Amino acid sequence: MTVAAEKQPAVDRDVCIEVSNVTLRFGGVTSLADAGLSLRRGEVLAVIGPNGAGKTSLFNCLTGVYRPQEGNVLYRSRGGREVSLLDRKPHQICRLGVARTFQNIRLFAALTAFENVKIGAEIRQRTGPIGAMLGMPWVRRAERVSDEHAHDLLAFVGVQHRSNIIASALAYGEQRRLEIARALATDPEVLLLDEPAAGTNPAEKRDLESLINRINKELGVTVLLIEHDMRLVMSVAMNVVVLNFGRVIASGTPAEVQGDPAVVEAYLGTPADGGDGDAAPR
Ligand SMILES: Nc1ncnc2c1ncn2[C@@H]1O[C@H](COP(=O)(O)OP(=O)(O)OP(=O)(O)O)[C@@H](O)[C@H]1O
Ligand SMILES: [Mg+2]
Repeated sequence: MTVAAEKQPAVDRDVCIEVSNVTLRFGGVTSLADAGLSLRRGEVLAVIGPNGAGKTSLFNCLTGVYRPQEGNVLYRSRGGREVSLLDRKPHQICRLGVARTFQNIRLFAALTAFENVKIGAEIRQRTGPIGAMLGMPWVRRAERVSDEHAHDLLAFVGVQHRSNIIASALAYGEQRRLEIARALATDPEVLLLDEPAAGTNPAEKRDLESLINRINKELGVTVLLIEHDMRLVMSVAMNVVVLNFGRVIASGTPAEVQGDPAVVEAYLGTPADGGDGDAAPR
């Protein structure tokens, strides 16, 4: 290796999403201010921060919903292809291998659990409408495989017994898990979960903890997780990034950030301002 080659900045091949210097403004509101993070392949990285810190805005910048005024979001797929996620539509980003769930559940309320998962799978389907109309054998075969996969995913998240129930009739925790199954049906390399535990009871939170671990370890999916529940964060996340007023104020292991004075202050406020900050890590 030449000296010049040694001096080249090392490209970290293990990083699959690199967010750098992202600033997002809405009129006078700055949702993200020079924010950055590196999501490493295979990890579970949690994004925490008080209400309004910019967590969902960050997800929206990663998934083609918002276009930040400044900064970059790079995605490096398992195959080594490197692309910017900016200026791409949500379905294109999903096809690249980045799937997400939403803070407010977004399911097709009038469709069954099974149909919701099938819709997720269709984004990757290669058979065209003409083959389907003609009932070609390879289309029927692909359909059968896709049906089986949908059933497997329903079982994976634990709602297989509810596959023929319409989504709106499912219990809240089941809807949350169904949304995860639908995201998994797109066969992602990276899964973005926006407060998957919000509104769930303690038993559902424990199930979710094990589900996130299985998604990461059994399916090999890299997870970026927005979560307020610190017990869940501590148990599933390898690393944590803390946002406050759109800025990254700390990052490290869960134990490191929990003891960081800047993080404590962001959540609880300083004694001078009454210490009544909201959404403290629970
Ligand atoms: N479409 C928008 N138009 C105007 N302001 C927006 C928009 N989206 C987000 N914001 C503002 O950006 C800031 C960050 O919001 P965001 O939803 O990203 O926070 P969050 O960290 O996800 O909060 P929470 O924990 O409550 O979900 C807030 O001040 C919010 O009002
Ligand atoms: Mg949010």
